Amino acid sequence: MVTESPRHAPVMVEQVVNALGVESGGAYIDCTVGEGGHSAGIMAAVEPPPRLMGIDLDEEALSTAKRRLGEGVTLVHGSYIELRRLAEVHGFLPADGALLDLGLSSLQVESPERGFSFMREGPLDMRFDRRQELTARLIVNEYPERELAALIHELGEERKSRRIARAIVRARPIRSTTELAEVAARGAGGGRRRGIHPATRTFQAMRMATNSELENVERGALSAIETLRPGGRLAVISYHSLEDRLVKRILARQASACVCPTGMPVCACGHSPSVRLVNRRVIRPTDEETAKNPRSRSARMRVAQRI
Ligand SMILES: C[S@@+](CC[C@H](N)C(=O)[O-])C[C@H]1O[C@@H](n2cnc3c(N)ncnc32)[C@H](O)[C@@H]1O
Repeated sequence: MVTESPRHAPVMVEQVVNALGVESGGAYIDCTVGEGGHSAGIMAAVEPPPRLMGIDLDEEALSTAKRRLGEGVTLVHGSYIELRRLAEVHGFLPADGALLDLGLSSLQVESPERGFSFMREGPLDMRFDRRQELTARLIVNEYPERELAALIHELGEERKSRRIARAIVRARPIRSTTELAEVAARGAGGGRRRGIHPATRTFQAMRMATNSELENVERGALSAIETLRPGGRLAVISYHSLEDRLVKRILARQASACVCPTGMPVCACGHSPSVRLVNRRVIRPTDEETAKNPRSRSARMRVAQRI
């Protein structure tokens, strides 16, 4: 789908610009450029604008970003897990700042043919990168029940994971998003829990598994740290607790002088910190922003500075 104007409202743009300490003459990397909302904010923050590279797996989002940001910005179709190599190839090594805005964009959720939404009838796709072979359809229809239950439990933090996995296996083949939503809701016993649709967590798990999201976040954050100059900043925005806990753990480990297992009488790891944590408490959107953009409600930002 080609969109003329961006659909996605970027979250905490001002806080991102401040966290990265954007300066003219700096080189910044938007590792999840999407439709370019944060990148546009970074470019508009100072005059003359800094150098900027944007990376995304989603070609459709990149084409909107290209129209929005113009020729001066380097846009790359690829994964942030390769950040250091991409930065080197495109002349952004070392970088002054990097942003990881995790999760998915409104453009993706609102496009039924991408298969991300349980409210819109579409194929079970859920790939950020449409060149990838693994789709949600394959996971839903071919993974063994135990593996499905484990994914729904771990990535969806869904208490009724086993019942949902059983319902999915019995209902195979499942072809569409709305079919999966119905089966998952039935498996979970129907009805909304804490205000969310009963298929929400199953969909989150299928999306995260399709795109290897947790594994990628870890690889991406480590690659981003390696890409920064000393004093350069990394900002990471996450949208649910599982992601945020992982980001917190990765940054804390990188900031720590010792990563020995607890209980070791003396340090034997030889680890040296590569970052310092800029904010111990997460940065959250203002009430004004959450009133305007309800999707921002769950956003949490953590910032680290390369030593
Ligand atoms: C929350 S959206 C970013 C929105 C963007 N900040 C904006 O203002 O438009 C997250 C983006 O990350 C992209 N993405 C997810 N995993 C990725 C990866 N491993 N490498 C690069 N981009 C990825 C998705 O395709 C999606 O466009």
